[in-house]
Amino acid sequence: MLVLAMALAGPIGVTSAEMGAQNAARASKPWNIGHRGASAYAPENTVPAFVLAAEQGATFVEFDVQLTKDRQVVCLHDTSLERTTDVEQVFPDRFRRGDSDAAKHWMLEDFTLAEIQRLDAGSWFDPKFRGTRIPTFAETIDALRGRSGLFIELKSPERYEGIEELVLNELGAKGLARPGADPKTPVLLQSFNASSLQILAGPLGTKLPIHFLVSARDAAPWMTIEGLEKIYAFATGISPEKTIVTNHADAIARAKKMGLRVTPYTFRSSAVVGFKDVRAEMAHYLGLGVDGVITDNPDLANQELRTKK
Ligand code: G3P
Ligand code: CA
Repeated sequence: MLVLAMALAGPIGVTSAEMGAQNAARASKPWNIGHRGASAYAPENTVPAFVLAAEQGATFVEFDVQLTKDRQVVCLHDTSLERTTDVEQVFPDRFRRGDSDAAKHWMLEDFTLAEIQRLDAGSWFDPKFRGTRIPTFAETIDALRGRSGLFIELKSPERYEGIEELVLNELGAKGLARPGADPKTPVLLQSFNASSLQILAGPLGTKLPIHFLVSARDAAPWMTIEGLEKIYAFATGISPEKTIVTNHADAIARAKKMGLRVTPYTFRSSAVVGFKDVRAEMAHYLGLGVDGVITDNPDLANQELRTKK
């Protein structure tokens, strides 16, 4: 009964018109969400990967946002720069020792935007991408505008006080801070950090759709009736690690009944277990009723899910 009442009332602070837009989105066909762009084929979280995902027919392009030392919003997955750039060559002395592993780490938060713009974020993936830069959030929006939706992950927001407001401000400056502002460029926010999403939905009052990312390791408390009710208070959907869909099937069914959209991660051709290939894996999960797939291979999603056939 409580669940039904919540489904009728909608998330706190959402008007009936906005619920209408959200319900329309929920009724749409499942989403093909390019993970860090088309990251099977181009360096993750770069403009070439983003544009390729859009060209391959991604409904949304997923990317990670964090802050530089001078509080500029940029796209990067790791909190440090050494895996995906040549920072060790360009700034050999600017590392910290890790808290847990004592290894050298070149932390994004220790570098200004001007400094990270000197880094090559493409060669690690393939020499043909030499000279590719870490994009700013604004550059990413400009690259994708009119081509794909934006599936924006606030990555490790606990490291960057105030990042929620900066992200909304940049969306506002581009005229994208409200649901439906640009039908060709829908916007969704997500994070593993519930507190960050509560800031977005609560004090900052965004009406943009919000997904709570849930890892398999953290799933148990969230996949209870109480856990789902907590999620429902600040989110319009969940992005669970894909094993949760089968290991917590009852909770996923409940979440969908509540009106939460379910978009599992990550489907990648390079890591398929128990299926013939990633196409078969994505088709299986879509058959279970999920509302989208977050994939490194947006070109291999069911043709019906691709914006370009
Ligand atoms: O969108 C889901 C996925 O991006 C979450 O994991 O580590 O790739 O950011 P990660
Ligand atoms: Ca991500």
